[in-house]
Amino acid sequence: MGILLKGGKIITAVDEYYSDIRIEGEKIVSIGRDIGKPGDEVISVEGCYLFPGGIDTHTHFDLDVGSTVTADDFSSGTRAAVVGGTTTILDYGCQNRGSTLKSALKEQHRKSEGKCYCDYGFHMGITDWNDETSKEIEDMVNSGVTSFKMYMAYKKTMQVDDGVIYKALKRCKEVGGLITFHCENGDLIETFIEEARKNNIRGPYYHPLSRPAEIEKEAIDRLIMIAEIADTPVYVVHLSSSLGLMSILEGKKRGLEIYVETCPQYLLLNDSRYGEKDSSSFEGAKYVMSPPLRKEYDQEVLWKGLSQGEIDTIGTDHCSFNYKGQKDIGKDDFSKIPNGGPGVENRMGLIYTYGVLSGKINMNEMVALTSTNAAKIFGLFPEKGTIAVGSDADIVVWDPNESFTITAKIQTQKVDYNPYEGFKQQGRAIHVLLRGNKVIYNGELVEKEPIGKYLFRKPFSGK
Ligand code: URP
Ligand code: ZN
Ligand code: ZN
Repeated sequence: MGILLKGGKIITAVDEYYSDIRIEGEKIVSIGRDIGKPGDEVISVEGCYLFPGGIDTHTHFDLDVGSTVTADDFSSGTRAAVVGGTTTILDYGCQNRGSTLKSALKEQHRKSEGKCYCDYGFHMGITDWNDETSKEIEDMVNSGVTSFKMYMAYKKTMQVDDGVIYKALKRCKEVGGLITFHCENGDLIETFIEEARKNNIRGPYYHPLSRPAEIEKEAIDRLIMIAEIADTPVYVVHLSSSLGLMSILEGKKRGLEIYVETCPQYLLLNDSRYGEKDSSSFEGAKYVMSPPLRKEYDQEVLWKGLSQGEIDTIGTDHCSFNYKGQKDIGKDDFSKIPNGGPGVENRMGLIYTYGVLSGKINMNEMVALTSTNAAKIFGLFPEKGTIAVGSDADIVVWDPNESFTITAKIQTQKVDYNPYEGFKQQGRAIHVLLRGNKVIYNGELVEKEPIGKYLFRKPFSGK
């Protein structure tokens, strides 16, 4: 006995066609007409699009940032993911300085096991490079963690120097690991924050001024040179600026393999959210994230980059902190505001509404950017990231006629605000199947058990 999705339009990264899908167990077993079998459960999906389940390349659930822990853990975060049409998340674990990758991975499993409503994998942050770390890179790849993150910012806690970047890139090349990079010049950020303190500038308005686009560009330029010398591919996370994209394009022109992720916040929100210069309002704290929001011009350039295939993925960098009780840790000092914001629940809807429906990208591009490319880059394809016979039955039934207004009042993610409050969303994930299990049905979370499984990813082998 299987499930037959009948009458929908399948959208993949390359195709768009009407066909039925038959699922048996966890897999798609046939695509075509008249494929139903006696005893099948038939779900009519007429008038709906069938997308491969979304893959969010970038989340931080249950992340301890020292002063506090993110509002969303793996339970609330993955529930929000499936509500929004995302069936896989890749979350960032991180080595503590003085400790090992192994213990960071153990901690990630402890936080997530038995709690996830969608499938999940991990990237691993590297903050402390030594012979042991170098050895552990291979252990990580053998444990299914085939991508890493290095921070060129956060000087006091996570930043690595250029020599370490070079050594880590060389090591990853040997064992099939891909390093993702947070590209901001951490030394300059610290200097700008110092300057602000001396001038008694305290409010969130100063956050973007302490991290201008030039310092993202500088870090990207430096990274690309190191990657070129090491002859190793790199992945730039949460790209925010037109300047940064220009550097990447120059690198690509020289034939370098550079993968790029941006996020809905850099496409849809701008730095006016930080408020007026001498304002006493603290609202801007909701948008304190790194890199910060940029200008409208940057948004336009990033959208163009998406439509021209220059940017590969859209992840959210979901890293949520409550406005009341968490963001206000930095009430008197913007540099102490916990960095990050929510996004996992709204990613697919925002990209459909403001990308596809406004003509900035087409539906195939949306699928590539929200699912397929991520699956390919991060070793999950073809099990994830497409609708094909033999693939996992991770399917989003998208009803284009549904619409609602995004508001924190009705959201699933467990945080007290939504950066997209008041945005209209057209279309909704009406049903979501995770490996053939109905997780969302008629817009409701019907799977009460957290059935998400850990994804053992394949080594990096290009896109
Ligand atoms: O502000 C952000 N993005 N916080 C999460 C950590 C990171 O740098 O991705
Ligand atoms: Zn980052
Ligand atoms: Zn992040």
